[in-house]
Amino acid sequence: MNIKEIAEGIRYVGVNDRVTEKFEGMWPLPYGVSYNSYLVEGSEKSALMDTVEIEGVNRYLDEVTAALQGRALDYLVIHHMEPDHSGSIPEVLKRWPGIKVVCSRQAADMVKGFYHVEDADMFIIVNDGDSIDLGGKTLQFVMTPMVHWPETMMTLVPELKLLFSGDAFGCFGALNGAVIDADMDTSRYIGEMYRYYSNIVGKYGKFVQKALGKLEGVALDYICSTHGPVWHERIGDVTAIYDKLSRYGSEPGAVIVYGSMYGNTAAVAEEIARGLADAGVRNIIVHNASVSPMSVMISDAFRHKCLIVGSATYSMTLFPPVAEFIEAMQVREIKDKVFAGFGGYTWAPNAVKGAMEKFCAETGIEMQEFVMMKQSIDSSVRAQAFELGKKLASLEGVK
Ligand code: FEO
Repeated sequence: MNIKEIAEGIRYVGVNDRVTEKFEGMWPLPYGVSYNSYLVEGSEKSALMDTVEIEGVNRYLDEVTAALQGRALDYLVIHHMEPDHSGSIPEVLKRWPGIKVVCSRQAADMVKGFYHVEDADMFIIVNDGDSIDLGGKTLQFVMTPMVHWPETMMTLVPELKLLFSGDAFGCFGALNGAVIDADMDTSRYIGEMYRYYSNIVGKYGKFVQKALGKLEGVALDYICSTHGPVWHERIGDVTAIYDKLSRYGSEPGAVIVYGSMYGNTAAVAEEIARGLADAGVRNIIVHNASVSPMSVMISDAFRHKCLIVGSATYSMTLFPPVAEFIEAMQVREIKDKVFAGFGGYTWAPNAVKGAMEKFCAETGIEMQEFVMMKQSIDSSVRAQAFELGKKLASLEGVK
């Protein structure tokens, strides 16, 4: 078996990155990340699908050169121009002069803008439904704007029921030897898919839904995304995850995110968690916003039905790490949550509650209840917090 051979004439030529600590300068990469690229060989022509981040360019050019075994490279198909995939375009153009770059109109403008490539003859601009015949393999282009940038598209190879999906269905995590899901344990990648979707693509749910709509009824044996495993056995699982998350659907469970300076607001969080547990919620995640990575808090909040946010009052508003989390939720247009708030104050009772109410008004999320604490937790606040947990557990979808 050739571990990099996806299907007849489709070869993986991507690279792993186990050096970068934060993707896009923000999102932790505890298991690394892969930048996936594929070589497609027809009987007449060959095509490279995307490139890789520039730091991996030397290994990448060696991979592609070896895979070609002396054949010419005719096309470079660009699905997405974010530099984690487009970074090596200039080097590919140098290595294979005369290659045609196949992409959307917007992607061509971005190639010029990012890499100062001025040769207009080099581009083949494609639209929805256009195709290129490689000889026994057809590249059919599907425009999927905003998954994850406006220029994005996918490519279907109908003869193989194979889809090059760009960022869609991708996940964090470098590839540890194997490439296809059937050849590995994918449990870690599935968890990293939630984090990848919510962190990177989360804002664009309605566009993901449009893309999924275009793919409805298309029989697929392989989904080759630009990050993580090639999906073959688990196509049903990963398309269901993307469908659910892009509809802001969620799983049972509750996520508590709090910010606390001296432990009182934290104590309220603990009581709410106990109330939830007492009422039978089994998946409860409590995050101290000063400590937990933003990436993980966003992912957990997307994944689970109930979200409870608490904050100490700071400079007459939310504690800054909580404010950052709330903003991240708003940017991603979070919706359909069972939501409650809690807050501590010393002399400004409405600061945190007012900020939470503003969040709810702007997102359309209903606030079930707000537990207010003056200066320190006492038996009354403790009881209110515990009862809040029990009440939230009784609401649809939480348990
Ligand atoms: Fe993997 Fe949007 O780039």
